[in-house]
Amino acid sequence: MTRERSSLGKDLVGLEPLDGDQIRSILDTAEPFKEISERTIKKVPVLRGKTIVNLFFEASTRTRVSFEFAEKRLSADTVNISATASSVSKGETLVDTARNLEAMRIDMVVIRHWASGAARFLAERIPSTVINAGDGAHEHPTQGLLDLLTLRDHFGKIEGLKVCIVGDIVHSRVARSNIFGLLKLGAQVAVCGPPTLLPRGIERLGVERFVRLEEAIQWADALNVLRLQLERMEGGFVPSLREYNRVYGVSTRRLEAAPRELLILHPGPMNRGVEIDSDVADGDHSVVLRQVTNGVAVRMAVLYLLSGGDPASAEAAKGGQE
Ligand code: CP
Repeated sequence: MTRERSSLGKDLVGLEPLDGDQIRSILDTAEPFKEISERTIKKVPVLRGKTIVNLFFEASTRTRVSFEFAEKRLSADTVNISATASSVSKGETLVDTARNLEAMRIDMVVIRHWASGAARFLAERIPSTVINAGDGAHEHPTQGLLDLLTLRDHFGKIEGLKVCIVGDIVHSRVARSNIFGLLKLGAQVAVCGPPTLLPRGIERLGVERFVRLEEAIQWADALNVLRLQLERMEGGFVPSLREYNRVYGVSTRRLEAAPRELLILHPGPMNRGVEIDSDVADGDHSVVLRQVTNGVAVRMAVLYLLSGGDPASAEAAKGGQE
């Protein structure tokens, strides 16, 4: 497999640059990869000989661990680097760090960074494939993809679905990747939250805007509930967490008013009792843990395709066992 033949190009920095066919091809490729994680021996030789560095400048549980599982289950050699345990803590720049990794002949870098645009910046400066694992408030493409896969698993299709993203939209890379992905696959998308947490002009992306959660609940087939990103707020966005929960918290009582059963997604980590109540997070309509399971298959698909894998051959490629 060669990178030059990748159907996605060299890198995955976001869902905005992809078209609907490319996104559908990632989701279709993820389907056969789901089964690998159900095997007793969870390993196939799809990426044998490839070297992948997971470079994380921000905390992560789901994305970091599921990329590592995806890489290991496809037999890649992987190294994890966190900012605090690397020479970044001594002042080394992102590009110098990446160039030094390149000098050790790597194939791919998976990067999470606090700065919007960090993944693209790196992708333009190194020959290795760069995969964005979340950059500032810009994009989190593999989260968007695993959310799409989870919606498609449940509803059988994305086209025509009404999905409302609820909460802290302004700080959310997950919201942006969801909006781009959902619209490209023909869904209707809305955002809902207090005006302080809705980006000005968000409607220009082609989404509806609700300030009242009750309206969103009447409209939607699915709610994707986002974490209040307190670490990115310098005060003044919400009066208090208690007030936020009172007006925007997704609770069983609120969902009872819905005209249909709503599917509940959350990318995690959850602030239970703030944006989502525990009985909803753990309830029958929540697919929070199915999202996490799908994250491994989606990341396998992305790694396979960016390595030059043929979408039509994914079933055959994963047939082997190490
Ligand atoms: N959804 C998500 O990105 O979670 P982590 O921050 O734990 O990776």
